[in-house]
Parts: sequence; C-alpha cells; structure tokens
Amino acid sequence: MTRGLFISFEGIDGAGKSTHIDRVAQLFREAGRGVVLTREPGGTPLSEKLRELVLHEPMDALTEALLMFAARREHLVLVIEPALARGEVVLCDRFTDATFAYQGGGRGFDWQVLAHLERMVQALPGGALRQPELTVWFDLDPHIAARRLASARVPDKFESQPANFFAAVRAGYAKRQAEMPERFRRIDAAQNRDAVGVDVGRVVTDWLKQAAP
Ligand code: TYD
Repeated sequence: MTRGLFISFEGIDGAGKSTHIDRVAQLFREAGRGVVLTREPGGTPLSEKLRELVLHEPMDALTEALLMFAARREHLVLVIEPALARGEVVLCDRFTDATFAYQGGGRGFDWQVLAHLERMVQALPGGALRQPELTVWFDLDPHIAARRLASARVPDKFESQPANFFAAVRAGYAKRQAEMPERFRRIDAAQNRDAVGVDVGRVVTDWLKQAAP
C-alpha cells in the first residue's frame, strides 16, 4: 500500500491559496491517489461548529487558542489520522502553523503555550508529533492582500483586522518557517495566479520525488 501524505497550505487572508489547493488535489487524483481535501478550523461537524464560533465571536486570546486546538484534535482523530492510515493524501487548508501565525504572531499570544498545546494535541503513540510533511506557504505583502480582500466578500473576525495585524501574522509564518525549514516551501503569492500555480505544481512535484519515490 502507498503511504499516506499530509500536506498543508498556509498564508495570510487574501494570499489566494484556495484555487491552488483544488489543483493539487486534481494532480494527485490523476495520479490515482485517494485525496482528502479538508480545512482548519473545521473538517468535522464539531470542528465546523467551533469554526463558526472562533471566526465570528469576540473572545479571550487563550480561549481562542484552545478552541483552535480543540477543533484540530477532533479533526486529527476523526479525519486526518484515519485517512493517513488508509494511505490517502490529506490536503489541509491551514493547520497548526496558522495558530502560531495568527494567535502567536497576530494576537501576540505566548508562543511557548502554543508549542505546549501543539505537543498535547498532535502527539502520536511513541511521542513523535504529527506535522504536515510539506507546508506550502503563500507569502504575500499584507497591503496587496488587503487590496485583494477589499473586492471580495464580507470579512470575518480575522479578515477585518488592519494591515499591521497581517504584517505580524506574516512574521509569525516566517518565524515558524525558520523553526522548521525542512517542511516549508515559500511561494511568492504576489505573482499572477498562473505563475503561482506553476510554482505550486513544481514545489509539490519536486517534494514528491524525494518523499514518495
Ligand atoms: P480561511 O482558511 O482563510 O477560510 P476562508 O477562505 O473561508 O476565509 O479562514 C480561516 C480564518 O481563521 C483565517 O482568518 C485564519 C484563521 N485561523 C486562525 O486564526 N488560527 C488557526 O489556527 C487557523 C487554522 C485559522
């Protein structure tokens, strides 16, 4: 049986990752792989309820972090781990790096507390941590992201934050990449959509050659 693969996609709001995730899913399906396309916060009925709360209700910073990790725990146990065990490809629109970037970078919440929660929630039997093997980071100047978002939809709690919040989120992603450089691939999301798509395809294909030859 082919082994499962766990890939996450990250970036500030407006970085434009969604269309590219669908294309990556297509790429794997064409290669005959089972694909689970999912997102955080969310991915299970309970986690989607938690998503509604964290994206729309004002709350204390620790409460927000705990709800993100509670949603993640459900998602891991009910969706991600079973899919990996079946040898499928899990493509996740945001994972724990988003918590470090948004709650840690953006909100200024304690990085070490997040690291502690991460260890509790993502521990595997034997003690290793479940992490994506590949994280595609759509990196974009917050001012460009804000212009893109302005013409889009009604903003949620995070999307309505000012540009300096997203500058701090971006710095959070950069810090996380510096901590775990081996799984991160940075994409220049300021390019046009087609160029970004080419980069994403190349990053995933190159990574696959060494991860699952
Ligand atoms: P997003 O993934 O951008 O979905 P949509 O495209 O439907 O808006 O929205 C999720 C929001 O939640 C986004 O603003 C980032 C935020 N978020 C956190 O603050 N912490 C987290 O741990 C996660 C997973 C997301």
